[in-house]
Amino acid sequence: MTSPVPIAAKAAVSSGTIGKSHSPPVPAYLESVYWWAYVHPNAVNVFEREWLVNAILFGNYARLRDHALDALGQTIQGRTLQIACVYGNLTPKLLGRMAPDAALEVVDILPIQLKNLQAKLPADERVTLTQSDSSALTTLADGSVDQVLLFFLLHEQPEHVRRGTLTEAMRVVKPGGKVVIVDYHKPVAVHPLRLLMTGVFKRLEPYATDLWRNEIESFLPEGMRPATATKRTWFGGLYQQLVWTR
Ligand SMILES: C[S@@+](CC[C@H](N)C(=O)[O-])C[C@H]1O[C@@H](n2cnc3c(N)ncnc32)[C@H](O)[C@@H]1O
Repeated sequence: MTSPVPIAAKAAVSSGTIGKSHSPPVPAYLESVYWWAYVHPNAVNVFEREWLVNAILFGNYARLRDHALDALGQTIQGRTLQIACVYGNLTPKLLGRMAPDAALEVVDILPIQLKNLQAKLPADERVTLTQSDSSALTTLADGSVDQVLLFFLLHEQPEHVRRGTLTEAMRVVKPGGKVVIVDYHKPVAVHPLRLLMTGVFKRLEPYATDLWRNEIESFLPEGMRPATATKRTWFGGLYQQLVWTR
């Protein structure tokens, strides 16, 4: 089968060697906590269904996706970095909004997820898929992208990795460029799903309540705080969107 979008197995090593033996290792939390959702060979077959992704977000998938895309622009210009693949059609929709001379770089640590995304995208030379760890974006130079998108990644990462991811997002975006984040947020006290989500997080997503207890900006180093920041929440506060400019 020919690959519509090539995947670059770029190494997290200073020599920049390309090849499988130098691919960045799969983080321990993905193997131990999220193996069933992303790492297992059958994970894609189970989860790559729009109705299921939508059900997991209680029917909010399309609107959260569209808010994220709207924050990037009706026509998306320049170079966009999407940090981590997602199930559903976020990336195809993003691609559909890109200006003819724009570029999209998607990084993910798991080849199985990059291959799944590859299969969802048409052949398009504006897109690059790269195997890379979000907390060590060694293939990207400082200030080299116009905007960064983080869609439901941060709640899945332990604090030290989340800090690394956010630091890298701010490092690679240009001064004046945007970082758009959509993720979980602490719902209002009387939210009918609060108890259910507490149980789900306790059992399946142990780092997610970090985002209930802390503002995401607090995971950034002092010297890297955004120049401007806007925050919106939806669905009784269960979901948030942050738009930062560097
Ligand atoms: C964006 S999150 C979850 C998004 C959303 N819940 C969904 O339905 O897809 C999942 C992706 O993050 C990737 N991921 C997790 N930790 C990562 C890391 N440290 N570096 C790069 N990708 C990572 C996983 O491999 C997976 O493809």
